Amino acid sequence: MIFWASLFVSLAASAGTPMDPASVYRSHCAACHGADRFGAMGPALLPESLERLRPDALLDVLRNGRPATQMQGFAGELGDATLDQLAGWLRTAPAGTPRWEQADIRASRVIYHAPGTLADRPVFSADPSNLFLVVESGTHHVTVLDGDKLEPIHRFRSRFALHGGPKFSRDGRYVFMASRDGWVSKYDLWNLTLVAEIRAGLNTRNLAVSDDGEWVTVGNTLPQTLVLLRAGDLSLERVYPVTGADGKSSRVSAVYDAAPRRAFIAALRDIPEVWEIPYAGKTAFTPRVIGLTDVLDDFFFDQSYRHILGASRSAAGQVIDLDAGRKVADLALTGMPHLGSGITWVRDGREVMASPNLKQGAISVIDMQTWKTVATIPTNGPGFFLRSHEATPYAWADAMMSPKRDTLQVIDKQTLAVVGSVTPSPGRTAAHVEFTRDGRYALVSLMEADGAIVVYDAETLKEVKRLPMDKPIGKYNVFNKTTRSSGTSH
Ligand code: HEC
Repeated sequence: MIFWASLFVSLAASAGTPMDPASVYRSHCAACHGADRFGAMGPALLPESLERLRPDALLDVLRNGRPATQMQGFAGELGDATLDQLAGWLRTAPAGTPRWEQADIRASRVIYHAPGTLADRPVFSADPSNLFLVVESGTHHVTVLDGDKLEPIHRFRSRFALHGGPKFSRDGRYVFMASRDGWVSKYDLWNLTLVAEIRAGLNTRNLAVSDDGEWVTVGNTLPQTLVLLRAGDLSLERVYPVTGADGKSSRVSAVYDAAPRRAFIAALRDIPEVWEIPYAGKTAFTPRVIGLTDVLDDFFFDQSYRHILGASRSAAGQVIDLDAGRKVADLALTGMPHLGSGITWVRDGREVMASPNLKQGAISVIDMQTWKTVATIPTNGPGFFLRSHEATPYAWADAMMSPKRDTLQVIDKQTLAVVGSVTPSPGRTAAHVEFTRDGRYALVSLMEADGAIVVYDAETLKEVKRLPMDKPIGKYNVFNKTTRSSGTSH
């Protein structure tokens, strides 16, 4: 029976008669992507999973597959009309809300090395505090780079589509990574091996690791939950359904560790609330809900983690005092500031914060005492990241969302003038800078399939070397992240 049913599906589909997409999916896709579309050997194919795939890119994968992967193209086998229908069907939610319960989370956990079974010192000679992790999104790999020699020492396969930055334990030994499809991986950087994995959700934004190294919190969009794991063995501790005061549930837009507060802070996408979940003290693990007047899309913490500077959908900015639990100022911002990528430094004895803008070729500089915009620096175009380091006088900005996406501009942090620029490869996207531990070198991503990490001398802006990488979207220096450098987001 089953044989005849699938034969019939194949014949009808190839004859150009559009078929019921659900049955095409069952016969051609479910074996790799799961009967419930939650993913199996291949990635999850729920509408949330495909959010970042443009319509033409989706059709291209269905027709032509992805080279050098198990995903073959179906252009020869299924007609255009069928593939169009299938693409539309993949964008619609399955009947019945997809469920991923505590039992599913627990059952998914894999332990590769039990706690205490690996060596307590690095298996390599490089300085473990000056390592970089480079996330290569092309074929889903991570490269471990020696930050002194600027050479790779190891490369390993990651889960499909890592999401949000990897987060290090304070001693730099472990790194925790979340994938789009909800997998959390704990990796031992000293032993260069995976320790444990668990699937915390079906669609995940990012994760945060507590400063005391005991806890990992995962922010999900599907189901709409925050998931608390024990950092030691990734065992599940608790699931928080994200439901607001009015009963409406929300996706998580991001979760952060606010180390000085000994708490996680979660930003929510659909309800005007910020949640603080302490991991120490009398109220540990009980969320404190801070009500807002407007949903915050994206935000920045000051270095003390007392204030958050947030942008709302209406683009109006606000400053929230987390101790007082309320808004204390408005920010005069235009366009779409990318506050999550903001940095701070001291200028004329005052702390300022600067953030790129996703809609305007401009960087806003805000005084952290008065919350007034003190300058707007015109740039080549809308950009995504702004980066600096305590030991360099410059901040580096990309123009990733503009025709000048191949060029980074270098801004003097005191005069606020653009003093230089670099173009690693004309016509090809360059963005995301991270500095070596001492701030001497700036590593830039050439974010292309046959891309590279391009290393610049941070003072002379001369290229020092180029390391080939497969779409290196981000890189993270152990020292700068674990010391919460003011020149980078944490
Ligand atoms: C033999 C296993 C296999 C089969 C059968 C298969 N896929 Fe895939 N598919 C994969 C793998 C593996 C990937 C990930 C490729 C990569 O690394 O980019 C993938 C990727 C995809 C992607 C891209 C997802 C993303 O987020 O980038 C889509 C869409 C997709 N498959 C749809 C389908 C559909 C629809 C079918 C059936 C018509 C199908 N696949 C059949 C293994 C398979």
